Amino acid sequence: MARRKKIYEGKAKTLYEGPEPGTIVQYFKDDATAFNAEKKDVIDGKGVLNNILSEYFMVGLGAVGVPTHFIKRLNMREQLVRSCEIIPLEVIVRNYAAGTMSKRLGIEEGTALPRPIVEYCYKDDSLGDPLVTEEHIAAFGWASQQDMDDIIALALRVNDFMSGVMYSVGIRLVDFKIEIGRTYDGDFQRLVVADEISPDSCRLWDIETGRKLDKDVFRRDLGSLTDAYTEVANRLGVMPKQSVQPTKPTLIN
Ligand SMILES: Nc1ncnc2c1ncn2[C@@H]1O[C@H](COP(=O)(O)OP(=O)(O)OP(=O)(O)O)[C@@H](O)[C@H]1O
Ligand SMILES: [Mg+2]
Repeated sequence: MARRKKIYEGKAKTLYEGPEPGTIVQYFKDDATAFNAEKKDVIDGKGVLNNILSEYFMVGLGAVGVPTHFIKRLNMREQLVRSCEIIPLEVIVRNYAAGTMSKRLGIEEGTALPRPIVEYCYKDDSLGDPLVTEEHIAAFGWASQQDMDDIIALALRVNDFMSGVMYSVGIRLVDFKIEIGRTYDGDFQRLVVADEISPDSCRLWDIETGRKLDKDVFRRDLGSLTDAYTEVANRLGVMPKQSVQPTKPTLIN
């Protein structure tokens, strides 16, 4: 059998060339990293959960008219996506203060923000993904002013959709990060939500108890990450079926 071509091996996913030009297969690994890969572990089942959850969010976004790179899920660990030119920014939307925002500005975690705040970090692991402003983005040509308007609109639509989905299952969307890709349809450029949307890239707190159901469980050693992600998948009704009990052979007519 021909070996498929690996395009990129990242911390959480491996990308392979897809079956058609312009497509990529994203393989979701079980590796977990935090603090710019200073903390690492392998968490059984994380890749399967993120693959299924990211599919669920991307399909939902598509259904409400937010363009994404998602084409289809191929199996428990892989999905087929449109290949994009990734804009080298992590686009973060915050509804409540947490993480680095709380540290930087001295705002207690969980404080409601007056409105959703969009932040950008320059995607460069060797620099620790530093926070940048629209001025840097324009001056260094990472995105045009038109792109920035589209990026903000996309990010806020993702925020509204994700906040609603999460609220409906008793979870608060504290913040999240997305990556945006450029795709080309003939002469037209389109911006789409790329990469993944999963509990690795969101902060999700149970509304009743405040229990964390996201990667902070790993970052801060708060218990089982698989249990937390499984809880999210269960509440959303997307938990992959466990291997079914063997049944008697059935006759096919
Ligand atoms: N549709 C797409 N087309 C091309 N590249 C993509 C697409 N979606 C995601 N990517 C890129 O694929 C990689 C996914 O791997 P992973 O998330 O493991 O990376 P990472 O180790 O977090 O590194 P990075 O800092 O680049 O995100 C990322 O670099 C991401 O930008
Ligand atoms: Mg990544």
